[in-house]
Amino acid sequence: MSNFLKVKKKIKSFDRIISVDGDKSLSIRWVLISSLATGISKAKNLLMSEDVLASIKVIKKLGIKVKLNKKFCKIYGKGIGGYKYKKNLTLNAENSGTLGRLLLGLIVNSTNIIKLTGDKSLSKRDFKRVTDPLSKFGVNFKLKNNNRLPLEIKGNKNLKPIFYKENRGSAQCKSSIIFAGMRANGETIIKAKKSRNHTELLCKYLNLPVKVENKKNYDLIKVNKVKKIRKLNYNISSDISSAAFFIVLTILSKNSKITIKNVNVNPSRIGIITILKKMGVKIIFKNQKIYKGEKIADLQVKSTTKLKSINCPDKLNSGAIDEFLILFLVAAKAKGTSYFKNLSELNQKESPRLKWASKILKLIGIKTILTNDSIKIFGNPDIKIDKNIVIKNFLKDHRVFMTSVIAGLVFGGKWIIHDKDSIKTSFPSFLEIINDLNK
Ligand code: S3P
Repeated sequence: MSNFLKVKKKIKSFDRIISVDGDKSLSIRWVLISSLATGISKAKNLLMSEDVLASIKVIKKLGIKVKLNKKFCKIYGKGIGGYKYKKNLTLNAENSGTLGRLLLGLIVNSTNIIKLTGDKSLSKRDFKRVTDPLSKFGVNFKLKNNNRLPLEIKGNKNLKPIFYKENRGSAQCKSSIIFAGMRANGETIIKAKKSRNHTELLCKYLNLPVKVENKKNYDLIKVNKVKKIRKLNYNISSDISSAAFFIVLTILSKNSKITIKNVNVNPSRIGIITILKKMGVKIIFKNQKIYKGEKIADLQVKSTTKLKSINCPDKLNSGAIDEFLILFLVAAKAKGTSYFKNLSELNQKESPRLKWASKILKLIGIKTILTNDSIKIFGNPDIKIDKNIVIKNFLKDHRVFMTSVIAGLVFGGKWIIHDKDSIKTSFPSFLEIINDLNK
């Protein structure tokens, strides 16, 4: 079967209620935490994507039983010390930075050397950001390849607590240190720049000794040794990072309206909503509720004709970090020049996304000024494309693929977009939902 997608026509107007797939961050965290819980944990609406399946494969290799079907997933945790560290074990995080980095925090007491590998994209990404703090606990690493994968880890049964300043606003680093802190003898303190807080909320729900003090510009997280994690039954809410593609599709389509059900709107994840509101978009939260500490709502949004440019405050960066590619399409259609800064982290993702954003915008006739950590986008409210565009060699970055599809559907042109399979990383139903809207 061909692994590219042709987009030849703009999408028709729509007025629909949809659901998008389960949240990736929560799904991976549920798998990892349940694998160390005592007893059988059950999840519904777990994201069935390659990143999550890779997480399941990894815990199975560590000796944990998993039952998976279309309706639910059950993990048979054997307690906090329940992993089996076989000799010559290799764990493969495939495409997932979240899995690779969080996992290292969980295997800090391994008795044998474990090799951690990843795919081509993950092997280009920095791991020093987690091996540095984990080394301070007394964990041993062998890193070749300029701090990238593959790496080797050999744990330590006697971990000392650490104090660590996490300055990037990386939830992956913060979570990895929290997990390691749970095994150390004493109190670990993390002074963390604000980032998504799903790990902390799960710890709070489970009554684990992880205390968070919210300060204005950072969080102080105090972690103590964990003796037992109780089983965790969980109904995973939908991923705002997946909803983002349909929010933007609706805004940029003519006379359209959408409701996206049951989306996780944790305040640390809704940077996209704040940014879009500043750009003149009206988004309504309906049926708001709290589930096990996480905020959830149905999102309602309509086509918007008068879009304003934005000088995006960088304090919104971490809450929208996975949404910038798709947000840049809104900036492309807005009146005036938009500016997004301090975004070097975007080039550390599955592909160098800031560079890819600039490439795609150039292909659709939008002028940009790109630096290593910022982009200026010269918007054009009358943007129209009627040429052939080919998108390829983007390291199979799922978000580059989906952003290109949305660009073709709203701006026109004849697109050939390679690596269709990349959607399986985070949002396997993406094309089904598009086809359904287009019926
Ligand atoms: C994630 C954190 C973010 C995000 C990634 C998922 C997580 O990365 O980009 O898609 O689940 O913790 P960083 O923590 O590196 O910013």
